[in-house]
Parts: sequence; C-alpha cells; structure tokens
Amino acid sequence: MGKFTVLNHPLIQHKLTIIRNKETGTRVFREVANEIAELMVYEITRDLPLKDVEVQTPMATVTEKTLAGKKLAVIPILRAGLGMVDGVLELIPAAKVGHVGMYRDEKTLKPHEYFVKMPADIDQRDLFIVDPMLATGGSAIMAIDALKKRGASSMRLVVLVAAPEGVKAVQEKHPDVDIYAAALDERLNENGYIIPGLGDAGDRLFGTK
Ligand code: PRP
Ligand code: URA
Repeated sequence: MGKFTVLNHPLIQHKLTIIRNKETGTRVFREVANEIAELMVYEITRDLPLKDVEVQTPMATVTEKTLAGKKLAVIPILRAGLGMVDGVLELIPAAKVGHVGMYRDEKTLKPHEYFVKMPADIDQRDLFIVDPMLATGGSAIMAIDALKKRGASSMRLVVLVAAPEGVKAVQEKHPDVDIYAAALDERLNENGYIIPGLGDAGDRLFGTK
C-alpha cells in the first residue's frame, strides 16, 4: 500500500488557510498555491539520493555531494494542476513538464481524459504528479493509468487538499504511488466537493465561473 503523508509544516498550514478563505482573490490564490507546492516539494525531496563528486573550489579540491538517481518531471493534471507547476519549478528548474488533461463530469463525477503530452523519457524519470484536489480520486487514478500506459514506473502524487475517499481509492488502485497532501479534510459532499476544502480549485485559480 502506498504511503499517505500530510505535510503539516507551519508555513504550509498558514498558507493553506489563506487559500481556503473564500475572500481570497485569484491573484493571491495563484501566488500562494504555488508557494505551498514549493514548500511541499522541498519536504518531499528530502529523500533524493546523493552521490559524491569532486569539485575544485578557488581554494582546494574537495569531495562533496550532488544529486544522483533519476531525473525528475512534474506532471500537472489540467487544469488546476497548472497552479502548482511554477512552485515546483522554483526548486527543480531543470525538470521536464508533462501534461495530463482531465475534467470531471459534474453529474457523474467520472473523469474524462482530453489531453496527454509527456516527455519522451518518462520511463526513466521520477514523476511528481500535481493537482490541488484529490476528491473521489477518479482524476488522479486515470492520470496515473495514462502515465503507466506510457511506461512511467516511478511517481508520487502531490495534492493540496485530500478527501479520505480519494486517498483510499488511489491507494487501492495504485498501491505503488505515495501520496502527499497539505491537509486531509473530513469528507465529500453530495456533489463530490471536498468539505471544508477550498471550493473549485480550477475556478479559483483562473477566475472562471
Ligand atoms: C478538479 C481537480 C481534480 C479533480 C478532483 O478538476 O483539479 O483534477 O477535480 O476530483 P476527483 O478526485 O473526484 O476526480 P476539475 O475536473 O474540476 O477540472 P479543472 O481542473 O479543469 O477545473
Ligand atoms: N475539485 C475541486 O476543484 N474541488 C473539490 O472540492 C473537488 C473537486
């Protein structure tokens, strides 16, 4: 079973409260969602492997550390996942970016895939799938299916707010994928929205509806 971790760093919690607030407008929502993504990825990458490398400083030659292991890629689930990409790229500017387009049918709550464009070498990369909301889990499960179908084998799911239903569904369908969230909320309402949540993440990020 994949691990589920809530990253409850005080700065993450503080910033999440800002974007939960319905009075927070598009500009601040966008800024702060990216800041949270950046802080989350900082925490999640603590376990990246290192290797020794010799470096010449202006004063001496020393053996120091550099990143080893697979290259990284960030995969936003469109549209709302775009709201976390810049934050991740602040820390990992060389990461490639793949896009998975999913929208959730408002009546059935079933996800529909409409776009997939991946770096050619996703099978050789560690992927950070980003999406602000993990509600029923349908979109994340379908996005992971799409990535695995294209050869990806190493990925983590990074969300701002998770519902217990979505965590369980992803863990059951994709037990090899670890999930990281800034918060685990109470439940879904009858329309599949997370309670208390932050509303519709895509609409709040892009100022739609
Ligand atoms: C939202 C959100 C997730 C999905 C979560 O996207 O960004 O992708 O819903 O719901 P689920 O876990 O029940 O699948 P939405 O479908 O609203 O599309 P958008 O990002 O284009 O607004
Ligand atoms: N998608 C959102 O944007 N918000 C929710 O609460 C659930 C799904």
